[in-house]
Amino acid sequence: MREKILPILQSYPRKRESLIPVLQEVQGMLGYLPEEAVVEIAQFMGVSLSDIYGVASFYAQFRFQRQGQYSVKVCQGTACHVRGGTRIMSEVKQQIDIEPGQTTPDYKYSLERVACFGACALAPVMVVDKTVYGRMTTPQVKKILARY
Ligand code: FES
Repeated sequence: MREKILPILQSYPRKRESLIPVLQEVQGMLGYLPEEAVVEIAQFMGVSLSDIYGVASFYAQFRFQRQGQYSVKVCQGTACHVRGGTRIMSEVKQQIDIEPGQTTPDYKYSLERVACFGACALAPVMVVDKTVYGRMTTPQVKKILARY
């Protein structure tokens, strides 16, 4: 692990202020922040593990579990909720058999609940990776997931 992330670690000053960009880059490379990487970062930067977990836990962008190949996000904001977002989420959960915050055992999908994508006119909204699917209906869920 050290050899993998060393170029990132060495490209920043060993200061606390570098912690967030370092975590972002390491996560960008590995897809998440495995414990081994967090230990290496802590040692290299001279900060404690609890400091790193404290900082990283504050930002929703950091992940400590391996993520699925595809990220499935279902909006549960007000506009989406009113237009059936709960049914869309139930259908997704049924299709991939996981709860929000979980990843399928084959690491194909990760599921997240989102408060609002800022695309309320398209409610209810589901996003797979970076593709936005608006005006979702429950039968569309299966068809869309089958593309991935
Ligand atoms: S509430 Fe779903 S996109 Fe805004």
